[in-house]
Amino acid sequence: MIIGVPKEIKNNENRVGLTPAGVKEIIMRGHQVYVQQSAGLNSGFPDEAYLSAGANLLPTIEEVYAVAEMIVKVKEPIASEYPLIRENQLLFTYFHFASDENLTKAMIASKAVCLAYETVEKPDGSLPLLIPMSEVAGRMATQEGTRFLEKPQGGKGILLGGVPGVKPAKVLVLGGGIVGFNAAKMAAGLGAEVIIADISLPRLRWLNENLPANVKTLYSSSHNIEGELHDTDLVIGAVLIPGAKAPYVLTKEMIPLLKKGSVLVDVAIDQGGCFETSHATTHANPVYEINGVIHYCVANIPGAVPHTSTLALTNATLPYVITLANEGWEKACEMDHGLRLGLNIVKGKIVYQAVAEAFGWA
Ligand SMILES: NC(=O)c1ccc[n+]([C@@H]2O[C@H](COP(=O)([O-])OP(=O)(O)OC[C@H]3O[C@@H](n4cnc5c(N)ncnc54)[C@H](O)[C@@H]3O)[C@@H](O)[C@H]2O)c1
Repeated sequence: MIIGVPKEIKNNENRVGLTPAGVKEIIMRGHQVYVQQSAGLNSGFPDEAYLSAGANLLPTIEEVYAVAEMIVKVKEPIASEYPLIRENQLLFTYFHFASDENLTKAMIASKAVCLAYETVEKPDGSLPLLIPMSEVAGRMATQEGTRFLEKPQGGKGILLGGVPGVKPAKVLVLGGGIVGFNAAKMAAGLGAEVIIADISLPRLRWLNENLPANVKTLYSSSHNIEGELHDTDLVIGAVLIPGAKAPYVLTKEMIPLLKKGSVLVDVAIDQGGCFETSHATTHANPVYEINGVIHYCVANIPGAVPHTSTLALTNATLPYVITLANEGWEKACEMDHGLRLGLNIVKGKIVYQAVAEAFGWA
């Protein structure tokens, strides 16, 4: 199969779909890989590394889309890429269709095959291609939230861990999945007082057993969340309903309950956000203020640490890329039910129920 790796062109997105090591594995199995020039540069992988792995380099994104049977990338295509996508071309990347109607319509019109990283499943229902980025985003959420609590950044001027004789900051993590667990773990490691809320009791039990003693678990309800806000310094939003738009766990009426200089980090912004006052921001301009409360809503948080993120992502995607290249998407999806769940749009038709439901098209 001919595989294409375009350079990511979304604002401040520095990751790349395949590493030189991944390219080598694919070529060893008899496939061809075309990489756009400088695609890996910002992740720390220069063109020469791809050349020595056996890739062909192409100067423009147009040439990569024109030659490839399968495109392997990181973020959803942006508007300037829509016209480059061809009928029957296989696109293997993050799409997050439920939060982007224009993208959904463009991909339907393209008649391409859209296999979305975020809905591929393992037999136990876990999401193997979301997990590595969620691990990065969860850890970063605490790092960035901590930064914006500093006074020069507009925050309350609170040190997360406090010092002897001075209380630490209070961190409320909403959603105790992969992002929430990693955010809570980092915050706890820095010495904060942490509360983590979820609606799943089995998950709360697991979190209770696996997080340190300075993390308390809480059942997630509006009543319980409201009760915590008056003395919370940092709120991290990390809820997910797979494939659907995130529910609002923090409404606009709740914002005044937080003190000025508090920080909200909405990691779920890539699914539309789980705070009612959230709108997507970028690494170039990551925050805005409402009622004196700082909102950090970067939709591609792992893009800020592209070296770590690219390695973590490609560790997880490579086995699927190899199967898709060896077998073709139809046979690969027949062989692996979890991979088939990644199919969101196939040749002009939405095949993933939650995406159709998100736009009332079901
Ligand atoms: N912004 C970014 O760069 C970035 C990066 C990675 C992941 N994400 C997003 O972060 C979100 C979380 O991802 P994840 O991998 O942790 O998902 P996950 O499925 O592991 O966890 C989601 C958790 O939310 C819980 N939940 C659902 N409804 C809830 C509610 N009302 N209150 C509290 N908890 C609730 C679920 O029970 C589950 O434990 C997703 O939207 C994901 O797309 C964003």
